[in-house]
Amino acid sequence: MMRVIFLGPQGAGKGTISSRVSAKLKIPHISTGDLFRDAIAAQTPLGKEAKKSIDQGKLVPDLITNALIREHVEKKRCKKGFILDGYPRNISQAKSLDSFALPTQVILLDIPEQVSIERLAGRLQCKICKRVFNINAREDDKPQVIKQRLAAYRAETEPIVDYYKKQKKLHRIDATPTVEIILKKIFRVLC
Ligand code: AP5
Ligand code: MG
Repeated sequence: MMRVIFLGPQGAGKGTISSRVSAKLKIPHISTGDLFRDAIAAQTPLGKEAKKSIDQGKLVPDLITNALIREHVEKKRCKKGFILDGYPRNISQAKSLDSFALPTQVILLDIPEQVSIERLAGRLQCKICKRVFNINAREDDKPQVIKQRLAAYRAETEPIVDYYKKQKKLHRIDATPTVEIILKKIFRVLC
């Protein structure tokens, strides 16, 4: 049973790397950011609510996010495990996850803030297949919103690094080399 969390600042490569790990391990990849963007595109009530926070670079309220993740990880397809990309993002979400699906490993993709800014400035994400390219920008990749997202990471998400370190689940991976090098290091940890 593998319940793997990908943690890391904006642009660390959570989407890029975790979707490759998901394909190799054949367990579902669940990205809260992708789920919210799909809901926004479909103009559902969830999408309308999420958009208010996402446009400002703030976290979507925990009540909404925790319920969404619970609904997904309790699906049959996640019986043999799953990979979470972008969740949990604060201590309250981490505790909520512990109450219904204990994570087995946590991968922290580590990059300096300047690299985050450079990578996000040149990203393009396919709305259908979710593949990430590097030419253009996502809606929330405007400089002002990136600043707010990075601030939210420092204030709310960084504390969960210690939370998982204490549980001896945390693996810190330098996410500045090439994707292939990063993947090799991750598979050494997971397999
Ligand atoms: P989300 O979509 O999760 O965005 P994020 O965390 O800000 O992270 P990114 O998707 O920007 O970066 P990434 O680490 O996935 O990097 P990527 O692989 O794309 O969340 C968006 C918003 O939704 C949040 O701000 C919040 O409002 C809301 N939300 C989401 N989850 C939530 C939660 N749990 N609770 C509340 N609200 C939530 O790569 C970035 C770029 O770098 C790409 O161009 C890629 O090609 C390039 N790249 C990647 N790896 C490398 C490499 N090794 N070398 C060179 N380039 C690379
Ligand atoms: Mg992402």
